[in-house]
Amino acid sequence: MQLLGIDIGGSGIKGALVDIEKGDLATERHRIPTPQPATPESVSDTVAEIAKHFKWKNQPIGCTFPAIIKNGVAHSAANVDNSWIGVNGQQLIAEKTSCPTLLLNDADAAGIAEMEFGAGRGQRGTVIMLTFGTGIGSAIFVKGVLVPNTEFGHMEIRGKDAEHRAADKIRKDKDLSWEDWAKRVNEFLDRMELLFSPDLFIFGGGVSKKHGKFFDYLKTDAKVVPAELRNHAGIIGAAMAAKSLMS
Ligand code: BGC
Repeated sequence: MQLLGIDIGGSGIKGALVDIEKGDLATERHRIPTPQPATPESVSDTVAEIAKHFKWKNQPIGCTFPAIIKNGVAHSAANVDNSWIGVNGQQLIAEKTSCPTLLLNDADAAGIAEMEFGAGRGQRGTVIMLTFGTGIGSAIFVKGVLVPNTEFGHMEIRGKDAEHRAADKIRKDKDLSWEDWAKRVNEFLDRMELLFSPDLFIFGGGVSKKHGKFFDYLKTDAKVVPAELRNHAGIIGAAMAAKSLMS
C-alpha cells in the first residue's frame, strides 16, 4: 500500500509516496523550500502543493512537524514560527489538501520508521532515537511502543537547553571539533542513561551519515548506532502513521 508522507523542516518541505509495507519511497522526493515566514497558513499551502504534485486526493497524508503535536495541535515552537502554538495544523492541512491528515512530531515519525525498517528493527528493549540537526529531536520506544512528544532536547544541561549545547547546528555555528562536540553530546547521553537506562541509542538527523567522525568519542553503556533510513525516515514514518486513518 502506498501513502503520502510529508516532512516539514525549517528549510525544506519534502514529500514522497511511500510503500508502507516495504518501508521505502515509491517515488522520487519532491522538495519545496519552506516559505518564510513559516506560518501555519503558508506552510500548509506548501504541503497542499506537494499533495497536488502527487495528484493525491481524498487519501491519507502523514505529515511531520518539528514541535510537540497533540491531537493535531502544536504545543511548542522551539525552531518554528511562534504563530504555530495552539494551531490545529492537522485540521488546516486536511482542509487545504482535502485529505484526511495525521500530523505528528518529526522525531517520533523518524523513530517509527527506524524501529520497523531501520536501525531499531527487532529491538524489544528501551530504545532512544535522537535526531541531531537544528535542534535535538527525541523518540523513546519501550518494547516497540512509542511514548510520543518526549522533547529530550529541551532537557536542561549546564543551565541551557540541551539542544542549545549539543545540536549539530551548534557544532557548525561554533566551529567545534568533532571531539569537542562529542563531549557535549556525551553529557546529554549520560543524563539520558541515568534516567532511562536504554539498551540502544539510534543517532539520526544530518549527522547520522557522518557517524564515522564522532562515534569513537561517545561513551555510553548502551549501544549507539546510526540511523539507517537517513533523511527518508520522517517521510516513511509519517506515511506509516497515517495508516491509522484508514480503519
Ligand atoms: C523541537 C522538537 C523537534 C526537534 C527536532 C526541537 O527543537 O522542540 O519538537 O522534534 O527540535 O526537529
